[in-house]
Amino acid sequence: MPFSIALAGKGGTGKTTLAGMLIKYLGMKGKTPVLAVDSDCNSNLNEVLGVEVTDTLGSAREEMKKGVVPGGMTKDIFMSMKLEQAVVETKNFDLLVMGQPEGQGCYCAANTLLTGFLERLTGNYPYMVMDNEAGMEHISRLTTSNVDVLLVVADTSRRGLQAAFRIDKLAKDLNIGVGKSFIVINQCKEKPSEFVLDLIDKSGMELIGTIPEDDTIYEFDLKGLPTIEIPDENKAFAAAVNIFDKIVK
Ligand SMILES: Nc1ncnc2c1ncn2[C@@H]1O[C@H](COP(=O)(O)OP(=O)(O)OP(=O)(O)O)[C@@H](O)[C@H]1O
Ligand SMILES: [Mg+2]
Repeated sequence: MPFSIALAGKGGTGKTTLAGMLIKYLGMKGKTPVLAVDSDCNSNLNEVLGVEVTDTLGSAREEMKKGVVPGGMTKDIFMSMKLEQAVVETKNFDLLVMGQPEGQGCYCAANTLLTGFLERLTGNYPYMVMDNEAGMEHISRLTTSNVDVLLVVADTSRRGLQAAFRIDKLAKDLNIGVGKSFIVINQCKEKPSEFVLDLIDKSGMELIGTIPEDDTIYEFDLKGLPTIEIPDENKAFAAAVNIFDKIVK
């Protein structure tokens, strides 16, 4: 099983940006290959990573459900081909986009194939990074039952912090196999106030680090440039490296 790190948190806190930085970090440290998993229905991790995506597991699942197989191909071969097409390969990482969730009807057969595929696939990677959609609903649907480290991204707003505490609690209540969970404060304009630190302390969560607000990150995003290509010495990336050094074994 890979060492897996999942990102969670309220919308817009920087989960996808941090997932990109983590994948950049793992590449720099030679901790490759990395399996990057985009579990957000409105997936955009590929933009942060600078790769094109055409197929998703969701679309493969839909085709499997329909059961239409092109002539001359066995069903099994066709399905493995579809699933494999949902994995984009690059030098240091491969990206798997989960895509849309199930619609109505029975997906049992498709899901059995999918589970088998995911098990075989994840076995090929020493590291796995999972970007999730906002909120907490998704955590309960995490396809991967084992998460070694859950990084809950927050801002310093009350709602951002409370969302982080709820996600942490949910992860524990659901018993989804989270090894350790930490809170990260991103887009910090200044050092978190005593008040904020106190709130975190009372929640029982551990603050693993803070990442400053940074114009380059913002500009890269605005111009559609991949965050993964920000300079190594960028100050937000350097702060993220400090955090990753503490959690990646
Ligand atoms: N440290 C930072 N400094 C400046 N801008 C940042 C920083 N971190 C993230 N951003 C910007 O904040 C915006 C939201 O970031 P991102 O998409 O990573 O958040 P998210 O939590 O994945 O959002 P969603 O919930 O929509 O998936 C983006 O424009 C991103 O470039
Ligand atoms: Mg995101």
